[in-house]
Amino acid sequence: MTIRMVDVIAHKRDGGELSGEEIAFFVREYTAGAIPDYQAAALLMAVYLRGMNRRETVDLTLAMAESGEMLDLHDVLLGTAMAPRIVDKHSSGGVGDKTSLAVLPLVAACGVPVGKMSGRGLGSSGGTLDKMESFTGWSSALSLDQFKRQLREIGLVLAGQTADLAPADGKLYALRDVTSTVSNRSLIAASIMSKKLAAGADAIVLDVKAGSGAFMPTVEAAEDLARLMVQIGADAGRQTVALISDMNQPLGHAVGNALEVREALDTLRGDGPDDFWQHCLTVAATMVQLAGVAATTDEARALISAARADGRGLAKFRELVVAQGGDGRQVDDPSRLPQARYVEPLEANGSGTVAAMDTGELGWVCVRCGGGRLVKSDRVDPAVGFLLTVKIGDRVERGQVIGEIHAHDDMTLQQAQRDVPAALKLTDEPVARRPLFYATINGQG
Ligand code: URA
Repeated sequence: MTIRMVDVIAHKRDGGELSGEEIAFFVREYTAGAIPDYQAAALLMAVYLRGMNRRETVDLTLAMAESGEMLDLHDVLLGTAMAPRIVDKHSSGGVGDKTSLAVLPLVAACGVPVGKMSGRGLGSSGGTLDKMESFTGWSSALSLDQFKRQLREIGLVLAGQTADLAPADGKLYALRDVTSTVSNRSLIAASIMSKKLAAGADAIVLDVKAGSGAFMPTVEAAEDLARLMVQIGADAGRQTVALISDMNQPLGHAVGNALEVREALDTLRGDGPDDFWQHCLTVAATMVQLAGVAATTDEARALISAARADGRGLAKFRELVVAQGGDGRQVDDPSRLPQARYVEPLEANGSGTVAAMDTGELGWVCVRCGGGRLVKSDRVDPAVGFLLTVKIGDRVERGQVIGEIHAHDDMTLQQAQRDVPAALKLTDEPVARRPLFYATINGQG
């Protein structure tokens, strides 16, 4: 029987369970350009509102992973001194989440090969590819041969979805970003896991965020998403571990592409905000341990700390920038990264202890300054964004400088000077600091 897209949309709109054939049809035809964006958007909204069960989610993930090549990278590593297990990581998305930028080079510097497929900004959350494009000339569009060669030569690759690798996610991701269909458990799981399966890693560390700046607002919802992805990974024969981490405030201080790159570089140089470093240390150590290079968590943490202390992580980051066409001088001297025209202070609009932040709104402030996309064709401005140097539990006084805004025009500057402080909820009560992590989920539970 011929499948028609209009019937697939109606089936899901009315709360039905899509068959494997319907899902495969949609992914294949949309990737091929035979289904227009408006029909794909209608189906995404129906899925968003009606949900997908586990079987539908697995079918969607596999169809998206198989929309391009499925890499097998083991031959590539033969004869190299690198660990035989390739590891990958992925974050479910957050504000100020520049973890990959620091973690991947540190892990690769420990001799663990990392071949990662990343995404762009999504809704209010940033994306690794947009951040890396702050480097003049840097490109994530790698052919499969380039991907393999670079993995063999420097042990570290950061690619985007291409015509060859998970192209269905490339198209669906961009459409979800601008149709308010991001924060759905099945769509997130399929998007993340399709990329991870296609990129061929043996072991995967998932950083699943919970809180006001995450797509999953509660720890329970994040755990539910994590369990689903860990199971999909295990079924596909990949060792998968999920760390549930806090996203009730931006990670580190910087929000905005080039500002986040600078903060990651500071961190690789041994400086940077402590919450960000501690977060990176845990994620990186988990990757190194899964790769079999360290037997214990303590050993893994010591390896990562050493790679930071002796500069090997920073040197590996520079290799990554240069290998993909970027200007290595911007790594040596971050003042060469794009700079905004205006840099002005942000001031607290009241006195009290920071009790909570509307972190999603903080992400949108950056998008409205030009640091993200409101429609698919928007160009991202790498220079804009802000630094927010206070954390939940800190005391502030009215007028105290709590950060700085980097903007290109007066209007967005003034809006951000109003909106960033307004996203902070102040109280006179004492407030506990937030933990960095809540739980670890692996195949056992
Ligand atoms: N990261 C992804 O790659 N996809 C999502 O849907 C969310 C975060």
